[in-house]
Amino acid sequence: MDRRRDIERPSPLPQHILSSTQFDRGFLDYLYTLTTTIRRFDKSREGLGYLQSLLPHKRAMLYFTQPSTRTFLSFQSACHVLGISASEIRDAATSSERKGESVEDSLRTFSSYVDLIIMRSPIAGLCERVAQLLDGTPRPVPIVNAGSGPDEHPTQALLDIYTLRRSLRLGGGIDGKTICMVGDLKRGRTVRSLARLLTNYDDVRIVFASPPAFRIAEDLRHDLSVSGLKFHETDDFEAAIADADAIYMTRIQDEYDAVGAEPVDTSRFHLTAAHLPRLKTDAVIMHPLPRRDELDVAIDDDPRAKYWRQERNGMWVRVALLTMLFGVDDRVQLPEL
Ligand code: CP
Repeated sequence: MDRRRDIERPSPLPQHILSSTQFDRGFLDYLYTLTTTIRRFDKSREGLGYLQSLLPHKRAMLYFTQPSTRTFLSFQSACHVLGISASEIRDAATSSERKGESVEDSLRTFSSYVDLIIMRSPIAGLCERVAQLLDGTPRPVPIVNAGSGPDEHPTQALLDIYTLRRSLRLGGGIDGKTICMVGDLKRGRTVRSLARLLTNYDDVRIVFASPPAFRIAEDLRHDLSVSGLKFHETDDFEAAIADADAIYMTRIQDEYDAVGAEPVDTSRFHLTAAHLPRLKTDAVIMHPLPRRDELDVAIDDDPRAKYWRQERNGMWVRVALLTMLFGVDDRVQLPEL
């Protein structure tokens, strides 16, 4: 317990990071306080040197068999910040999977050499399977889900909430706010993980704005209903964004299209500079990135646009998570009130 802030260190600390459903409000408050503290270490050479001294005896494998720019680089950078050596596989065709080795055997092999596996895969549920498999071996290592098909992207949701929390702090934080999520809500894993994480906040309302073909999946609709979080599905994009405290834009996930599928017209769900006067003056505009034409580059200079900060925040949230996975978070001093 940190007596000054009444923020309790989660116990037990997480063994793996697999799903946004594994976190509660206490965990989030602790993680974000830790993240903000760690950022302060970045301001001096001594601070950075201290962070690098925390885990130089640890090795990580970044197994990314689906494309990634920011998740890969921010995890790799987070490892460097903490002194962790990082190896990578970015294409299963360059591993012995090409010779017929199962993905499970490949991942078990990594656990022979490293202390942590951070993985992105097109296969939904693979992270959980591998975590369970390794937990039954003499050398279990933490598994971090860095994106599992159209299923989950828990660390993206963690950094999204951190960004929302910081951006909305002058307006009283996330509790009581309306968050509008836009785009391919059916297959966008960031939306699925973020919506579930938002159930930890009080009186939040989510407005899902999408073409009918991209409405949220039934399992998410069910989970949100059970949680009691208020949500609404609409194709009235203009009304939804005007009413929102935060707008979370997402791209179309056409990598999951069936062969020969007819493209869905999403042009009515693009946020352009022409919309800016209609948004709340203190609205927050976010996007997990990468973007296409759903988010106009002309918005980048608007003070409400937070997506570049959002991706930078991702590195610091991931540094904080790694300290917790290795149990050295208590060596980072929490701030005075
Ligand atoms: N937000 C996100 O997951 O981006 P990348 O695909 O570039 O990692």
